[in-house]
Amino acid sequence: MTRRILVTSALPYANGSIHIGHLVEYLQTDIWVRYLKLRGYDARYFCADDTHGTPVMIRAMKEGIEPEALIERMHAEHVRDFADFGIEFDNYYSTHSPENERWAGLFYERLKQGGHLDRRSVEQTYCEHDRIFLPDRLVRGICPRCGAADQYGDSCEQCNATYEPTELVDPRCSICGQTPVRKTTEHIFVKLAHFEDMLREWTRGHLQPEVANYVGRWIEEGLRDWDISRDGPYFGFPIPGEENKYFYVWLDAPIGYIASSDNWCQQHGCSADELWKDGQTEIVHIIGKDIVYFHTLFWPAMLHAAGLSLPTAVHVHGFLRVEGEKMSKSRGTFISARTYLAHLDPQCLRYYYAAKLSDRPEDIDLVFEDFINRVNAELVNKLANLYSRNLKFVHKQLGGRLEGLDEQGRALVAEARAAAGEIAAAYERRDLAAVVLRISQLAERGNLFMQTAEPWKVAREDEQRARAICAAAAGFGLILAIYLKPILPGMVARIERMMKVEPLSWQDIEREWEAAEIGEFERLAERLDRGQVDALVEASREEFEQQAGAAVETETEPAVPLAPECTIEDFARVDMRVAEVLEVSEVEGASKLLRLKLSLGPLGERQVFAGIREAYPEPQKLLGRKVVCVANLKPRKMRFGLSEGMVCASSAPESAKGGPRIRVLAADADARPGDRIS
Ligand code: 2FM
Ligand code: ZN
Repeated sequence: MTRRILVTSALPYANGSIHIGHLVEYLQTDIWVRYLKLRGYDARYFCADDTHGTPVMIRAMKEGIEPEALIERMHAEHVRDFADFGIEFDNYYSTHSPENERWAGLFYERLKQGGHLDRRSVEQTYCEHDRIFLPDRLVRGICPRCGAADQYGDSCEQCNATYEPTELVDPRCSICGQTPVRKTTEHIFVKLAHFEDMLREWTRGHLQPEVANYVGRWIEEGLRDWDISRDGPYFGFPIPGEENKYFYVWLDAPIGYIASSDNWCQQHGCSADELWKDGQTEIVHIIGKDIVYFHTLFWPAMLHAAGLSLPTAVHVHGFLRVEGEKMSKSRGTFISARTYLAHLDPQCLRYYYAAKLSDRPEDIDLVFEDFINRVNAELVNKLANLYSRNLKFVHKQLGGRLEGLDEQGRALVAEARAAAGEIAAAYERRDLAAVVLRISQLAERGNLFMQTAEPWKVAREDEQRARAICAAAAGFGLILAIYLKPILPGMVARIERMMKVEPLSWQDIEREWEAAEIGEFERLAERLDRGQVDALVEASREEFEQQAGAAVETETEPAVPLAPECTIEDFARVDMRVAEVLEVSEVEGASKLLRLKLSLGPLGERQVFAGIREAYPEPQKLLGRKVVCVANLKPRKMRFGLSEGMVCASSAPESAKGGPRIRVLAADADARPGDRIS
């Protein structure tokens, strides 16, 4: 029976664009699946957008659209980005799909039947203004440990402390800036400890050693219950039989792997149920190291409870760093897939990531100088050159015909062939760096052969012999192209065209190439220069600045609700006049008030107490200003004296960035005190 393998990458969130950090994983998976397919295995790559949860809901709200419209737009964007990097899914679906809802319901039902669910009250952060429960990431405040301002509700980016949102000093809702409250609500939990033995067993043998190590420690530390419900409003699937409760996004996200395969099966006459249950199909999840807990504890537990197969492997890669640091928007190293494509060839990144990605969960570092050097020295000078110097020459000088492979030639081709086992083993364990290293060594060998044999000189005396030399290099190059095909499918397609061969497969390694026709030369790879990379970084930095600028302009704050409608006659009853500030002083015992003496010109002077002190820490600055005063307001006796009018000011609720925003309305500097405003 042919080996059957289901492969997945983590589902990217539908609230953001694909960037070069994401691409580490999708390229790694794509390369691996291409290798499996090249071998002739029945391998399928399934993925989807991860569409549910509060961030998607809030982004849609900010854009003034429905979440469905947002996720549809992002889906189209993601699909295009992936395709342009040569990432080929068998199905790229969405977690907001009928299949996913059905499967999520089924998992829930089985968890329930198995007695693995529990309910209990939890206290959560709630914004009374927005009427939603706030996930930790949506609460910001001052770090309780180091005092850094504007930190997330779960951890501090300055000092790396982790804490509960309740511990934040001066917590604020990130949406509206108001102070959230604690509110009690009932949630549904999965009793993860029920699965302890099974998880202990499974984690041995299905994970990389260092991952197995720390997952083992988590199990030893004790498995806590997992909260799988969220109260509405929430963009997700309603929990069957519950009022205003939804599945937490992380419940239905991994189920999205199954839903994507289910959707594909419906179009290809198979059954997802069988695939995920038959015990024959290998299931491999490729993920980043930030989501190991979900994939090595929650997910196997859910699969087990649902009576489905456990993953054959959960393969973890490290994070991407750029120039030794975390990607940074302000430094221009947070590079989106689209911006990259506008500046550089995607095959450079495919090559570079492959060259850096071993089978260990270590971070990989994109260092621009190294990137440029490796592309130029290895991809262009070693690999592409091996084909171009040979094939160009054969096409132009030898009439495009190759034949007469001799003993020496056969020995060379055999050298390439001999590497097959080693390269296949490296591919199997997903050690792409080892694959690239071996290919690169072979390319060096091939170039050395050409340099020593010098067919262009030999051809002057002995065309037959030159043909034999070139035939050897071409045969060698074909085998190399097979090894390279998963990593650089575009380049290898051009090689196949030039050498007039059918799409190469792994079996072709064994084939004897006695004669060949060589067609018109096609360029294989271009050199990179520093200027191109600098331009990419600069463009990314500018994009960020524009976004930041736009965010400041459009930052949505809650509008103060409109007062009931009034008629023009109602309005005319309010007599507003230009007034000049003659005196200003603070009011003892009233921290919010300022006492103003105003001149209303011919109408005389007025004393007004105005609640604007917080907005004017230096009240003297108001002296001489022309303001707007409601002059016919009934005088009001206050503790400090009589207030004979009101100063108009704009106001807004407390913003996320500071205290309340109050600004006195200004009349034009040359308006005269006492003039009527209408
Ligand atoms: O961390 C993330 O980006 C998640 N969207 C990954 C989900 S993977 C899977 F479980 F769906
Ligand atoms: Zn709020």
